[in-house]
Amino acid sequence: MPSRLANQWVLITGASSGFGAAAAVAFGAEGARLLLGARRVERLANVAAEAKRAGATAAEFHALDVASTESVETFVQWVRTLTPRVDVLINNAGGAHGLEPVAEGHEADWRAMMEINVLGLLRMTRAVLPLMVAHPGGTILNIGSIAGRVAYEGGAAYCASKAGELQITRALRLELCGTGLRVGTIDPGFAETEFSLVRFKGDAARASKVYEGVNPLTAGDVAEAMVWAASRPPHVCIDEMLIKATDQAAIHKVHRRPTAAKSK
Ligand SMILES: NC(=O)c1ccc[n+]([C@@H]2O[C@H](COP(=O)([O-])OP(=O)(O)OC[C@H]3O[C@@H](n4cnc5c(N)ncnc54)[C@H](OP(=O)(O)O)[C@@H]3O)[C@@H](O)[C@H]2O)c1
Repeated sequence: MPSRLANQWVLITGASSGFGAAAAVAFGAEGARLLLGARRVERLANVAAEAKRAGATAAEFHALDVASTESVETFVQWVRTLTPRVDVLINNAGGAHGLEPVAEGHEADWRAMMEINVLGLLRMTRAVLPLMVAHPGGTILNIGSIAGRVAYEGGAAYCASKAGELQITRALRLELCGTGLRVGTIDPGFAETEFSLVRFKGDAARASKVYEGVNPLTAGDVAEAMVWAASRPPHVCIDEMLIKATDQAAIHKVHRRPTAAKSK
């Protein structure tokens, strides 16, 4: 049986690395038509090529900075030159900046997280919705985090931004009830991507310590969850999915093995 996602237009923000790049390949393998956005366009070109090799019917890309209303509008104008409809919107662009306690926090980091994780999600959704409501049956998946549900030290602004994402998802779910569009959030625990490298501003040694001795989620695990949620029959909505590594029972309860002895 052909995939429900075959030939569907799937728009993925933050497709240049991590979950977004893995999602491009995973939706590509279903025969979807991809619209990919992020700031690093050269990375998008590689992701698009990989998605085509995986089976994407089309894999188009364009620069996108969700922190800029102008960039979001330009991006969506570009989308309109390719298709009058978007079937699946994956609001994935985002990340954490810094891990300082509030007392030592940096205003630039706080602003970046609010601009990208909260306002970026709102901007993208507002801009893309007209291409979705006119064609019922589509899916909006927002990428939240365990951090939106449980706070941790040093995570005040990031947790606040992801709690914001959760409430935006819930409000949108109510607002769109009756339109045929479904809205859900996928909330991962820790996963090995460029997330920690970005959080620690390029400090690779500090970033790799986050995953030391554990089997974290991979980007592919989260992408698989996105594909599953978006390919349910149209009358089924996966409202909220919390997905964590087996080694992470809770935000502060992580099983670590000595040295590099990672095992299942
Ligand atoms: N990894 C984890 O442990 C984890 C856990 C829970 C939730 N999450 C969430 O999952 C999402 C993806 O993160 P990831 O783990 O895949 O990290 P990642 O590898 O750093 O990927 C982040 C993606 O977001 C894009 N992005 C960042 N700022 C952007 C902006 N202003 N405009 C457009 N795109 C932007 C980046 O692209 P450019 O830099 O090229 O723009 C990149 O493609 C984020 O929302 C993150 O908060 C991650």
